[in-house]
Amino acid sequence: MTTGRELWYLTRGSGAVALVLLTATVALGVLSSVGARTSRWPRFAVGGVHKNLTLLSVAFVVCHVVTTVADGYAPIGFKDAIIPFASPYRPIWLGLGAVAFDLLLALVVTSYLRHRIGFRAWRGVHWLAYGAWPVALMHSLGTGSDARTSWLVTLGIASLAIVAVATLARVFLASVSGRGRAAAALAAVAVAVSLVVWYRGGPARIGWAARAGTPSHLRASVRLLSHRLEAPPAKVVAPPRAFSVHVAGTVQNHQEAGGRLGVVISLRLDGNPGGALRIDLRGAPIGDGVAMDASGVSFVPATTRAVYLGAVTALQGNVIGAQVRDAAGDRLNLTLSLSLDPASGSATGSVQAVSAAGGKG
Ligand code: HEM
Repeated sequence: MTTGRELWYLTRGSGAVALVLLTATVALGVLSSVGARTSRWPRFAVGGVHKNLTLLSVAFVVCHVVTTVADGYAPIGFKDAIIPFASPYRPIWLGLGAVAFDLLLALVVTSYLRHRIGFRAWRGVHWLAYGAWPVALMHSLGTGSDARTSWLVTLGIASLAIVAVATLARVFLASVSGRGRAAAALAAVAVAVSLVVWYRGGPARIGWAARAGTPSHLRASVRLLSHRLEAPPAKVVAPPRAFSVHVAGTVQNHQEAGGRLGVVISLRLDGNPGGALRIDLRGAPIGDGVAMDASGVSFVPATTRAVYLGAVTALQGNVIGAQVRDAAGDRLNLTLSLSLDPASGSATGSVQAVSAAGGKG
């Protein structure tokens, strides 16, 4: 059976493959337009590969869209893949994906109708479709969870370099005037530099998810890829009473060595018992969140001198489950329902505690 996590991997994987195929399609298309060929690869073969790569790109984008909608993590429907800028999730950057997809579909349809619509109309759409490439690249970095991970950044830089070299080769091999050549080369370099400047000031910076238009309830959640729970203690003595109290405090993200990201949620309990609760999540950065692979929880009730320590056991949207125990081995299961706003750094909500043995004390 497919889980949300597998679908998420499929979305990201199919998106990356679609970007690679689109890059290869554009590079081959540009080169075949100046008649690039070798003895092994005659011109018609280059053209044939170009056509098939386009169809394969469309197939991977369809897979990317279907897995995105089936994943259901973000409120994205099939109409958002066709109608640009109408989605509640990162409307501009997801919308650019829809624009790229629409252009690809127009390209395929007009290629099949080429004899009916005439060469000029077909060529017009074809030129427009080349615009799908920078648009898809901006979508990938503006929407993708991996926009700050080295593999997607490397893929983006490699794609940019390949298309830039192919475009410059076309400019210098084509029979255009010196002035036209300089203007076209300048335009290609300007597009590449603009993309790099946009990325550095946008998706590369912490806080992009909020600025990109991610709904706040999704920003507050962290996708759980794996977690470690300390081995349960051998004996349970005198479980503390169950309680449910309001909590308020702060949430902070910070960069750690090796590009890892840490999220610290510090809360004070308002009621009986009062006290302090701190949750540490650590892992690889994914978008504005973290793919958690380590966690720590400490709870110090105001009413006792006991310190409860443990780990996060579950993350689901705004709900965090944790298990902690004190030096005597008493275990508490904590369930926090939080509203986190990384932009302002505030955290509010409630915590419910029950002894791990299930007793209400
Ligand atoms: C030519 C068209 C497209 C290409 C080449 C493309 C490619 C990509 C790439 C490379 C990523 C980054 C994946 C990552 O961060 O690991 C991405 C992310 C994403 N794309 Fe597309 N995409 C296209 C169209 C679309 C369309 C039409 C939709 C609409 C449903 C869409 C929805 C998404 C979503 C939701 C994400 C974020 C996934 C995540 O990282 O959580 N894409 N896309």
